[in-house]
Amino acid sequence: MLTREENERLTRVGPGTPAGELLRRYWHPVAAAEELTDDRPTKFVRILGEDLVLFKDRSGRVGLIADHCAHRGASLLYGRVEERGIACAYHGWLYDTEGSCLECPAEPAGSMFHLTVKHRAYPVRQFAGLYWTYLGPLPAPEIPRYDVWVRTDGSQKIDVYPRLDCNWFQAMENSVDPAHLQILHQDSQGRRAPNTTRGFTDSVLGFDFYEVPYGIIKRRQYANGRIDEHPVIFPNILRVGNCTQIRVPMDDTHTNIFFVRFVPREIAGNGGGTDDESDVRYLEPFKTPSEAQHPFTRFRMDLTLAQDHMAWETQGPIADRSIERLATSDRGIVLLRQIMVREIDRVHQGTDPLGVVRDPNHPMIDTHLSESLEELMERGYAGTAELLPEAARAQ
Ligand code: FES
Ligand SMILES: [Fe+2]
Repeated sequence: MLTREENERLTRVGPGTPAGELLRRYWHPVAAAEELTDDRPTKFVRILGEDLVLFKDRSGRVGLIADHCAHRGASLLYGRVEERGIACAYHGWLYDTEGSCLECPAEPAGSMFHLTVKHRAYPVRQFAGLYWTYLGPLPAPEIPRYDVWVRTDGSQKIDVYPRLDCNWFQAMENSVDPAHLQILHQDSQGRRAPNTTRGFTDSVLGFDFYEVPYGIIKRRQYANGRIDEHPVIFPNILRVGNCTQIRVPMDDTHTNIFFVRFVPREIAGNGGGTDDESDVRYLEPFKTPSEAQHPFTRFRMDLTLAQDHMAWETQGPIADRSIERLATSDRGIVLLRQIMVREIDRVHQGTDPLGVVRDPNHPMIDTHLSESLEELMERGYAGTAELLPEAARAQ
């Protein structure tokens, strides 16, 4: 149980909030790279409570700048992109990717007024099929070279999930909550549970957690001897199966979810159809109506991720942790909260938090992807069509 103040500290993401400042020390994806085209060169982005516009100018530079024009606030989503940047549709103030104003066309000839205008802008990088941004103090750190994102013996595929209409930290707590797998997801195990209340709980001997330099490893030991280990990459990524599930807070009560899947060539060439598979998939909403929130919508319950979205969203827009009843099986959640508090303090003291990487030449970071892939293959998953539900299942 947390006090209301502690709950706010862990969940709120806006500028100046403790968790918001922590999250601003990491790069986050904002769009699939293919989303910006010549025909559609702008995209609205809400991230960490900030409304922004992603755009690609005619020179190929990609920028992310504040949505409301510095002049009188029209949205730059409707701006015209040109060689030097994006020009507001209303009066043509022209911004480059750094947020510098290059021209205010309605000002008198020779006016230097535009030099006084500086618009909020954030750096953008293209990496692993996505555009990423960093909203924190400069210099920006590196995007960590996690195995799923940089291995070259296969390809990276992107899944863009339906928007999650609740706070990001509910999804993260779920990732250190191994007990729910055997119960919430009991119908997706390919066999019937002996008892619907217990699900497959009795097939697990126990679970534990330990810290690594980039997050927390969750370890399950099954009664049949199998050990399942996979990490939460702090603060907002679950690495499971062949995926990273990246949860990017839009604001306090909405979250974007991007999956990056690594598909090894040996699987791709094994009848999995990967070569034909598009690099980016956009998943349909899990609920009807898709824009409504509990109880004015209904989730489908025949997909693992839909079951998770149901559990996360029905906890409330921001779960009220002042009335929860934590039990023994919630010790991973307690650990994650302790680490959050510790890392928020580190940021407050001016230190880089857990997992921030500064060395541009750092070696690939091993999250035990090879072990996960071996296990997936041993269990007979030959194609990516099967890899996705399996990966989603093993949360
Ligand atoms: S509101 Fe953008 S140029 Fe006037
Ligand atoms: Fe789950």
